Amino acid sequence: MQRVLILFPVIFLILACKKDKMDPVCNDCDLTGIAYNPTPYSITRPVGFGEMDIPSDNLLTEEGIELGRFLFYDPILSKDSTISCGSCHLQEHGFTDAKPISIGVNGSTGTRSAMSLFNVGYYNTGLFWDGRSSTLEKQALEPIENPLEMHEMWPNVEAKLQRSKTYREMFRKAFGISNKKEITKELAAKALSQFQRTLLSYNSRYDEIFLRQEGFPTEQELRGYDMYFNTSLDLPDAQCGHCHNGFLLTNNGYFNNGMDSVGNLMNYPDPGKGKITGQYFDYGKFRAPSLRNIGYTAPYMHDGRFKTIAEVMDHYIDHVKNVANLDPNLAILNLTQSQREDVIEFLKMLDDPSAIKNPKYSNPFK
Ligand code: HEC
Ligand code: HEC
Repeated sequence: MQRVLILFPVIFLILACKKDKMDPVCNDCDLTGIAYNPTPYSITRPVGFGEMDIPSDNLLTEEGIELGRFLFYDPILSKDSTISCGSCHLQEHGFTDAKPISIGVNGSTGTRSAMSLFNVGYYNTGLFWDGRSSTLEKQALEPIENPLEMHEMWPNVEAKLQRSKTYREMFRKAFGISNKKEITKELAAKALSQFQRTLLSYNSRYDEIFLRQEGFPTEQELRGYDMYFNTSLDLPDAQCGHCHNGFLLTNNGYFNNGMDSVGNLMNYPDPGKGKITGQYFDYGKFRAPSLRNIGYTAPYMHDGRFKTIAEVMDHYIDHVKNVANLDPNLAILNLTQSQREDVIEFLKMLDDPSAIKNPKYSNPFK
């Protein structure tokens, strides 16, 4: 009797293992029973847009994008499963969080304002406000281990993903892995990057009228446009178009736009680009962000100090501080009250409600 009792669990174990071997998505491993047949995905270039640089070792596929979308919205990527990328990058706020400074796991506050991710695949002068990350693939590794953001360790995230039957299947279908152990942070970052490259916004009134020429602006919008891009001899230059230009509405350059007055540039509370390059004249410089969808992305600037576009205009019109590396285009701005309203009216043309509602960008868990 004793013997039978001991043998029973042993036999059970042997049977269980046998079953595991035959089950393609078993705990331990072999995923080769699932078909690997990824469907290539190509981005249709919107009118007026340039070509997006896509790394040859991470070409887009339907399966990779879908996996990236799940990862982007899945809180298991954070330490206590409370925060996903999508918690700070919300579609309805143009993929920002509508807060001056982002809040991470356990309510810890970061130091900067979340950035919009629309058209992020086109940013090729460095990511983040200070440009410290060169590619989306590298960038995606950061928030997970940042103690002020998701505060998790990559080996734990890898283990959590390996435990999930759904993710094992999705990684197999996207990247052809044959064993769950091949689920790595590098592949997760690749999938996240693929998804983010599809987050396009190209259907604003600005696109319709100025890039696709499918209609006409109002007189007020046109006056705003002329001042923004300095295209009329009769109206003053609002200077915006020197930095926020092109189809992205930014040249992605780094500038000091005069928000704080400091004697020594190294005294900026946030050194910005200076911390990355160590160059004295880079302190206090930040990447000029795209102005697309700014109607949804308040508050503004790297520290979210301005609540409204009217406050931003006040800054550029008469609050710019004259510091050593202030961009020369920002010295004088002579706009009347009504001209200021005209520029604001033009800025409203940059909002794209269709991107804010595009179901392909939304949370798949909802
Ligand atoms: C706690 C809030 C928070 C979470 C969670 C978060 N981000 Fe961010 N994200 C930010 C902030 C803040 C910045 C700007 C940081 C900086 O400049 O130092 C940023 C910047 C970025 C940028 C740079 C955009 C640009 O224009 O340069 C990308 C891309 C990005 N995040 C993607 C992600 C991805 C992918 C995840 C999940 C793996 C994620 N974020 C999770 C807050 C967050
Ligand atoms: C010399 C280049 C330059 C010019 C000219 C300029 N900007 Fe900017 N702009 C920047 C930089 C750099 C930032 C980011 C600064 C920061 O966060 O510290 C910025 C930030 C902004 C933001 C915040 C966007 C966000 O996502 O937080 C808005 C809105 C804006 N600018 C609008 C304008 C308008 C409107 C004009 C014209 C009246 C203008 N800018 C002129 C360089 C410029």
